[in-house]
Amino acid sequence: MILTVDGVKWMRILVVGGGGREHALVWKISQSSKVSKIYCAPGNGGISELAECVNIPATDVEGVVRFAKQNHIDLTVVAPDDPLAMGMVDALQAEGLRAFGPTKDAAMIESSKVFAKNLMQKYGIPTAKYKVFDDYGQAVKYVEQIEYPTVIKAEGLALGKGVVIVNDVYEAKEALKAMMVDKVFGQAGLRVVIEEHLIGSEVSVLAFTDGRTVIPMVSAQDHKRAYDGDRGPNTGGMGAFSPSRVYTPEIAREVENRIIKPTIKAMAEEGRPFKGVLYFGLMLTEHGPRVLEYNARFGDPETQVVLPRLKTDIVDIFEAVIDERLDKINIEWEDNAAVCVVLASGGYPKSYKTGYEISGIEEVLKEPDIMVFHAGTKRIDGKYYTSGGRVLGVTAIAKDLDTAIQKVYQNVEKIHFENMHYRRDIGRK
Ligand code: AMP
Ligand code: GLY
Repeated sequence: MILTVDGVKWMRILVVGGGGREHALVWKISQSSKVSKIYCAPGNGGISELAECVNIPATDVEGVVRFAKQNHIDLTVVAPDDPLAMGMVDALQAEGLRAFGPTKDAAMIESSKVFAKNLMQKYGIPTAKYKVFDDYGQAVKYVEQIEYPTVIKAEGLALGKGVVIVNDVYEAKEALKAMMVDKVFGQAGLRVVIEEHLIGSEVSVLAFTDGRTVIPMVSAQDHKRAYDGDRGPNTGGMGAFSPSRVYTPEIAREVENRIIKPTIKAMAEEGRPFKGVLYFGLMLTEHGPRVLEYNARFGDPETQVVLPRLKTDIVDIFEAVIDERLDKINIEWEDNAAVCVVLASGGYPKSYKTGYEISGIEEVLKEPDIMVFHAGTKRIDGKYYTSGGRVLGVTAIAKDLDTAIQKVYQNVEKIHFENMHYRRDIGRK
């Protein structure tokens, strides 16, 4: 443990990643009473107002380790899935550096859907019925005899695009061919999970865990489809809100007892204790809650609605996780609601143009309880330009969801860039 000096800001923190989630993390870390300096690799335009952005890609494990050593970083927070799956936390720890996030072995709960499904089966954690295939011919034979719709998932990380819900045997064969023969996801699609299609409400529950103790955060829901009414292609997320209206205290208790705690225990028993944030993607079905997926990290855009509701100093939580004393701290939340609307480049998630100037952000930031988290922006000479598919996430906080929805859209209207696209129904489910 590092010694603390009361009242003196002394910690130097490095956040790895460069999207809206990382902006929300940097923003929350900047409010810590202990932090004197924040770096972000690689960061983005908005993050550069709160942290020094360093030009190291999030997947450059050696580069990040070297930077953390040379700059006497006290704590590195690894936010995205890729560096976690690559073992960035292990590499930092091997150099005696403190890092927040799971090791490579523990991150497998996200990086291999086959591992995650087998874990759930072994430990009786409720999830969709499934079969695993690494042989294309056998997978094709199987989809000829099942009922539809069904769900086909590439085993590995595929930028959120590796899951296809198919309505008939033709679509199923097409998806299998793309993954297993044409290898559109490379190695990640050579093995597939074919699973039962579940119906219900989707809820995201993130939890802090030190491998033994687990503390769920407030619930959230995201909106994955590109257009209103959940139409159009899947995206990285077009918005989110917290809390979920359907995640009642009773369901929360059931999820904690049947899913959250058993998962943490299972990982420890497997010799892969999970330390960091574990994200439970849940489907609340008529037969009870089921796990759709695990993520070994903070969700995006869920983080942009969950962290603004956190009262506790997040750095204290990170330290308690690393030092395995999460049972000793009290995590407090505001009794309010948050809604985040993502402003995307027209065309996203397919092709889109970037480089357009963004106006209106300063106007919005004059309002209380409004945050503008940058996802894909560049700052040049004090002006912001679009540089990605998801450009900004505007979050509003209010006493309840309806007020937060009203407030967020009043402010979204003040922001402009060429071909800006956003959903008008965030928070309404
Ligand atoms: P995943 O990456 O596994 O979360 O899948 C992406 C999205 O596909 C989920 O957020 C759900 O909307 C959907 N999905 C995944 N698995 C299933 C399932 N078994 N039944 C219905 N929808 C699913
Ligand atoms: N919001 C889903 C994710 O972070 O993967």
